[in-house]
Amino acid sequence: MKLAVNIDHIATLREARGEIEPDPVIAAGICEFAGAEGIVCHLREDRRHINDRDVRLLREVVKTKLDLEMAATDEMVKIACEVLPDLVTLVPENRKELTTEGGLNIEPMKDRLKDVISELSDKEIFVSLFLDPDPKNVDLALEVGADIIEIHTGKYANSVTEDAQIAELGKIGAVARMASELDLVVTAGHGLNYYNIFPFLNIPEIREVSIGHSIMSRAVFTGLQKAVEDMVKIVAKF
Ligand code: PXP
Repeated sequence: MKLAVNIDHIATLREARGEIEPDPVIAAGICEFAGAEGIVCHLREDRRHINDRDVRLLREVVKTKLDLEMAATDEMVKIACEVLPDLVTLVPENRKELTTEGGLNIEPMKDRLKDVISELSDKEIFVSLFLDPDPKNVDLALEVGADIIEIHTGKYANSVTEDAQIAELGKIGAVARMASELDLVVTAGHGLNYYNIFPFLNIPEIREVSIGHSIMSRAVFTGLQKAVEDMVKIVAKF
């Protein structure tokens, strides 16, 4: 399994003081140096952490794979078509949320997603959809032309009982197998940390995990390179 590191929170810290440091572009280099195989950043409408300058510079320095997370808006599609990340992950966006709260609800925006995915694909950008682990999302993802689905693991991560966690893991595994059989690439992310990631050992269809908050939290104490190396060691076992 591969690790993609979400560096948004480096920019969150920068924006907390409106300063120029810490720089997420430097963070991206350290993450790659430590073994990350992808860098993820979310350009939000309100630019609360990552900004346009970051995305453009990241495109220049990231050597592994740049995944631009964004809402399917005209503004973001235009930026993606100019910057040309390797991958775009389409997520729902809500101004009041602290972090992405749920997966995309494809059905009401099917036509919009088809257009956006086709425009991005014309620029040779792969498109991933961030989806809750519901089997109906797999068919819808195929219908709108996605290459990849990123399964939202937030509910798994936030489960308070073991039974709820096992049930959620079962749903994630079923959707991963179904999507993989239909030739969609499957990744997962949200709320994953150094402890709750281990059960994913049993879901080989998940090729990559996208992790931000837990790595950045550990980095405060260990340094970013060590925090990424520790997670790379875990995911490399899968
Ligand atoms: N994947 C997606 C689509 C996300 O929106 C986020 C959060 O920005 C993550 C993965 C990473 O989640 P976390 O920061 O909880 O590891």
